[in-house]
Amino acid sequence: MPRLRKIYLIPALLLLLFGISAIVFFKLDLGPNFIRSFAKETQKSTEDFLNEGKAIFRYDTFGSEEFWGQTLRLHEAIKGSQLGGVGPGLSPRTALTLGLKVDSEALPSSLVKQLKKGKVNLDDPATTVALLKNDAVVGVKGFFNSEGQLTSVGIQCALCHSTVDDSLAPGIGRRLDGWANRDLNVGAIIALAPNLQPFADLLQVDVETVREVLLAWGPGKFDALLVLDGKGFRPDGKTAAVLIPPAFGLTGVNLSTWTGFGSMTYWNAFVANLEMHGKGRFLDVRLNDPEQFPVAARAGLWNVKVEPDLISPKLPALHFYQLSLQAPKAPAGSFDQRAAARGERIFNGKARCSNCHVPPMFTEPGFNMHKPEEIGIDSFQADRSPERMYRTAPLRGLWTHQKGGFYHDGRFATLLDVVNHYNKVFKLNLSEQEKKDLVEYLKSI
Ligand code: HEC
Ligand code: HEC
Repeated sequence: MPRLRKIYLIPALLLLLFGISAIVFFKLDLGPNFIRSFAKETQKSTEDFLNEGKAIFRYDTFGSEEFWGQTLRLHEAIKGSQLGGVGPGLSPRTALTLGLKVDSEALPSSLVKQLKKGKVNLDDPATTVALLKNDAVVGVKGFFNSEGQLTSVGIQCALCHSTVDDSLAPGIGRRLDGWANRDLNVGAIIALAPNLQPFADLLQVDVETVREVLLAWGPGKFDALLVLDGKGFRPDGKTAAVLIPPAFGLTGVNLSTWTGFGSMTYWNAFVANLEMHGKGRFLDVRLNDPEQFPVAARAGLWNVKVEPDLISPKLPALHFYQLSLQAPKAPAGSFDQRAAARGERIFNGKARCSNCHVPPMFTEPGFNMHKPEEIGIDSFQADRSPERMYRTAPLRGLWTHQKGGFYHDGRFATLLDVVNHYNKVFKLNLSEQEKKDLVEYLKSI
């Protein structure tokens, strides 16, 4: 069959050629030199990636200035009428009261000296503008024209997920990346904006209602789901906002957020697009559900495509940096070591906490979600998410976010309240001493 043979000849020859070149390729390029340079490249790209991600986490606005500045005109409320904006302006004193933090390392040394001497006018909005010019307000970036006037502001991840160590003064110090800012009153800050109409239009309510919802959030809370379902309040009349969680200690944790919306990279894209109003792309068909997510379905928030995409190219490095953010160790003296050691045994034994909070992630490997009744609470917040469940909170670094309480809405003011809740729901029969030991352990994680 000569014809058939001819047909096979060409692929056979190609295969041979490929085989030979593969051998040559492996011989030439995959020897020890290749391996060494590959390892070096990997090492270098690890460092570059980490630095890139850190810069994104701290300083990138993802183009959000178009929303917060140009559209809501928040910068005008910051500078005040004296500087060409509107109203009294935002003094540094008020900014600090609203929980905004100042990065002392971004301040010129002359200003640091004056601050130490108490010679900086903390009641003048011009000082706030000067701080913005120095890129010293954590999580907020000012944009300036050639005359030095503030023309816009954008926001950064660090706004909610960073705080400072207060080393210079309360609210002024070195950055602590990944820590939840439980002082930050996001709602009150947004409510300062001269133009809240875009929120009113999106939610199909009036501006007064928007303001009422925002002002109900209070310190340390934010409601990322408002723009999906338009729910401002729970049935009991309390705000529907949840506590800002830390963005550290999440390595190995499967689902992110209190209600497990998705992976960390999923949520990063979600927040940058839908909450920060950066420019980019986001897709989640689960949100195209007029019953559960009427606002998202109506406004097409489940499929966002804004050009130019200033978010997607940054997601890989951002994720990499987040994974490097380990939960900080509890300082010696902040808990009773002996009691904590006893508490650890109770956590893993009698109290069965580790059934769900599996060390070292303190959440379940796998699908780390539970029905509301499993942990003995109402379903309001769970029902606002695709799985209608609560995610087992990864307990790392609990000691850094005791302000604002515990559980998604801060319903338990103290760790002892949390333990008492479990003691009742799971009928654990813990003695007062065992409860105390458990609390000391929780403070040490
Ligand atoms: C305005 C405040 C705010 C900003 C800005 C913000 N976040 Fe968040 N973040 C929150 C809140 C509140 C939650 C909890 C949401 C929920 O569970 O409904 C959250 C949750 C998270 C989580 C999940 C944490 C966990 O325990 O699983 C990660 C990760 C995260 N944010 C990363 C980011 C990144 C990255 C950015 C910037 C792209 C960012 N956030 C910007 C407030 C904010
Ligand atoms: C059935 C699984 C399960 C068990 C068992 C369990 N937890 Fe939890 N835990 C959760 C879930 C889910 C949440 C999140 C609740 C929420 O989002 O409101 C949580 C939240 C917490 C929080 C709040 C974290 C924060 O950031 O506010 C603490 C503290 C805690 N658990 C401690 C414990 C202790 C101590 C035990 C043992 C007595 C225990 N848990 C047993 C599932 C569990």
